[in-house]
Amino acid sequence: MNAPYWILSSEGKQYETLNEDYSTDYLVIGGGLTGVTCLFLLSREGYNATLIDANRIGHGSSGRNTGKATVQHGYIYSRIEKKYGFEKAKQYYEINNKAIQFIEDMTRQYNIDCQFKRLPAYLFTRDENFVEKLKEEFAVYQKIGLDCSYEKELPVPINVLGAIKLNNQAQFHPKRFLDALANEAVNMKGRIFENTRVIDFHPGEECVVELENGKRIRAKNVIIASHYPCYDAKAFYFARMRADRSYIVGYETDNFPEAHFINIEKPTISLRYIPEEKVLLLSGEGHKVGHNDGDHYENLKSLAKEIFGFQNAKYQWSAQDYITHDYIPYAGYTSVEYKNIFIATGYRKWGLTSSIASAMVIMDLIKKQESEYEDLFSNLRVKDIISLNFLKENADMAVQLVAGKLTLGESEIPQDRGVGIVVNIEGKRCGFYRDEEDNIYLVDITCTHMGCELKWNSQEKSWDCPCHGSRFDYKGNILEGPAEYSLNSYTELKNKINPQIM
Ligand SMILES: Cc1cc2nc3c(=O)[nH]c(=O)nc-3n(C[C@H](O)[C@H](O)[C@H](O)COP(=O)(O)OP(=O)(O)OC[C@H]3O[C@@H](n4cnc5c(N)ncnc54)[C@H](O)[C@@H]3O)c2cc1C
Ligand code: FES
Repeated sequence: MNAPYWILSSEGKQYETLNEDYSTDYLVIGGGLTGVTCLFLLSREGYNATLIDANRIGHGSSGRNTGKATVQHGYIYSRIEKKYGFEKAKQYYEINNKAIQFIEDMTRQYNIDCQFKRLPAYLFTRDENFVEKLKEEFAVYQKIGLDCSYEKELPVPINVLGAIKLNNQAQFHPKRFLDALANEAVNMKGRIFENTRVIDFHPGEECVVELENGKRIRAKNVIIASHYPCYDAKAFYFARMRADRSYIVGYETDNFPEAHFINIEKPTISLRYIPEEKVLLLSGEGHKVGHNDGDHYENLKSLAKEIFGFQNAKYQWSAQDYITHDYIPYAGYTSVEYKNIFIATGYRKWGLTSSIASAMVIMDLIKKQESEYEDLFSNLRVKDIISLNFLKENADMAVQLVAGKLTLGESEIPQDRGVGIVVNIEGKRCGFYRDEEDNIYLVDITCTHMGCELKWNSQEKSWDCPCHGSRFDYKGNILEGPAEYSLNSYTELKNKINPQIM
């Protein structure tokens, strides 16, 4: 049942797997909205460009979100103003606004059936400790000159202490949009290969990319759009971003105001209506991946019942995104050393606009070797690297590396079906799962990224990494995150670990 409406309601074309050595001028790794927008922009400009995806395009976070296209990214403008000044806050607005405009323009130009609609977005609070923050954010909106108002009530049955209504935002079907953009890129000679996973990367004037099936791609330029960068380039992304997971439930309902909503404080309450399906999406329950395994769907369902009296959810799914320490994405050159390798990541669950904004920045760097937004998105933002959070993430990783290995796990093999547990077999820790047909799966639960111990996720029946968000199914196959190798089964050798740092 945990399948996103967006993927269920968009077939999408299937693309072939790359089964031979290959070369291209521009290689885009990852077919989410970032990668597909890059491929589209490159193809439109006549560059020889190819996109590869480990799975199917649009099946990552870009097909699993709430489909809001807005510049209202929670508490962000005051934060940027305080840290980097007002001009940078204004730039953040400008580029994300251009991204919404891009979605609208492409939808019109190519007649894309993606439910695009302009409507207001509300940022609200129910917590008196956040009223000041909301007012601060409103003050920056006004300084930028946004079309907004401060409200005391919402047009939905939630009592609030204040809300910012921001007009002229949007919503759309992200997967149908992505599929259509990919199709247009292919029409302009862009190439796409699916089920084509990168497992190693050698930078250089000509980069060499090694694939899981043993084939190699040579590329003069590479754009790494794999959500979490699959090549680190000594940027230490693993210590500068955290993976955060959230949950979505959908209920059939006839009426909902034409607007979407989110609060500024935790726990998050995010609301977005799909009029075409008559379904209201409620999203929240965010937590760091591999931490806090609770009944997140049940918690959201209780909230839906409390606010709207809803009983039976029609949809439920979850997804994750990466959050940088200063809440601004990284997009642009991956390092000062290589001007032919670009990355885009860290969208903080606002990547439907940030992905397009990032693709625009990268395209400017490719075409003109400069972008007015280069500094804002640069991964060389010094203040960010030496932040306290940097130290905190590293300390957390050290704890996770050691903590799991100290306990041996259960010595009793559970009889229940559908349950994952860490067991101790002849002194060796491994992840145990018994499926509905009574098949048993035993996997090495040392994460193949940097060796942290995986935790069982009872909501998605997966082994999740508390360090940087890699996830594996109970058979050991990679679901998402930085890991490049699957988990070995108990009877095989220990897992291969490949941090992809250098
Ligand atoms: C619950 C939730 C709700 C959200 N709602 C919204 C919203 O309403 N509005 C909004 O603006 N944002 C939202 N977001 C954020 C948004 O969905 C993401 O930021 C965005 O989709 C990320 O796009 P991407 O292209 O970077 O990554 P993805 O869409 O994840 O694409 C990355 C692709 O790279 C591929 N890949 C990975 N590793 C490799 C490899 N080694 N080799 C080849 N390919 C590889 C993957 O298969 C995948 O297809 C939400 C996020 C969450 C978690
Ligand atoms: S994702 Fe980095 S150690 Fe697991």
